[in-house]
Amino acid sequence: MNKYQKPGELYAGLRLHQNENSSGCSPKVLDALATITREQMGFYPPYDAATRACADYLGVDPDHLSLVNGLDEGIMATAIGYLRPSADGFIPEAVIPEPAFEIFAFDTEVVGGTPVRVAPNRDFSFPLDRVLAAITPRTRVVFLTNPNNPTGTAMPLDAIRAVSHAVPDGAIVFVDEAYAEFSGTTFLPELATFRNVIVGRTFSKAFGLAGIRIGAIAGHPDTLEPLRLAIPVYSVNIAAVVAVQASLADLAYVESYVREVEQSKALLYAACDRLGLGYTPSAANFVLVHAGDRLAQVLHAVSKRGIYLRDRSTEPGCAGMFRVSAGVVAHTQQFIAALEEALCDAR
Ligand SMILES: Cc1ncc(COP(=O)(O)O)c(C=O)c1O
Repeated sequence: MNKYQKPGELYAGLRLHQNENSSGCSPKVLDALATITREQMGFYPPYDAATRACADYLGVDPDHLSLVNGLDEGIMATAIGYLRPSADGFIPEAVIPEPAFEIFAFDTEVVGGTPVRVAPNRDFSFPLDRVLAAITPRTRVVFLTNPNNPTGTAMPLDAIRAVSHAVPDGAIVFVDEAYAEFSGTTFLPELATFRNVIVGRTFSKAFGLAGIRIGAIAGHPDTLEPLRLAIPVYSVNIAAVVAVQASLADLAYVESYVREVEQSKALLYAACDRLGLGYTPSAANFVLVHAGDRLAQVLHAVSKRGIYLRDRSTEPGCAGMFRVSAGVVAHTQQFIAALEEALCDAR
């Protein structure tokens, strides 16, 4: 168990704390998994067909893409590839606009690099000037997330272009697009022009495959090479290889889930308005709710009703805030009912 796994984390209760797809994957994935043969289980997995399917979906050349055991592995490979101190005492820096996915700073520190955290704007719009000001000759990675977790805010693609121009030679911009299916915006078509940018994608969110661990990193082969060297040779297993192909053959499932997420977000915004809670409008499948001094009461009461939320209140700019997944409408309604009860109890 590592620092981010919680003891006794259960499937019981309603999991609205990790931005998962709470309806699960396409049923066609389970059908495909049932076809795996004993021989397939006995052999190291072949990646060609799954890599081609992913590359087709993302619109990149298969040479410009590697499958990873979840995007977390792609982030760790980025840290290993670009952020290790060198023998002559050079300590690389990773610029991280906050609040951010905590694994960026965690992995940076694990490999001996220095996280350089950039404070957020009050409205969580992208702090381009401060990000540019944080770049130094020691910068080797700028971690960007679009749309961002935990705020759900999207950044203009122009900001990514500006950061790509600003980093020193030998540095990269890692654009984490874990939630891009929900925003519909991607930097992928620009990778041919911006050779120092790597885009990370995951099948854990819109595709509902978090349990099987599969993601992808895309970029120019020279830029990807340090990551490829850091990824264990057969880190993606045969079940994930089969599952991702079955998922990509059923994009209608994902499209319908993305529409459901939109409905859930509309319900959440309306509930917040009704209950006098603030929120940050989200381009992802979760909402950052501003509960202010009612935060502890909400978290306690909702968890008593078996619903998990993510307290983000200790992160920069997030005092009094929690994050809730927006997915299956029935689950959102269950959460809203619990929230209403919690706030009535508080009166
Ligand atoms: C921004 C971001 N990147 C990466 C990940 C991890 O993705 P995966 O499940 O593919 O490792 C998450 C998961 O919450 C995330 O929020």
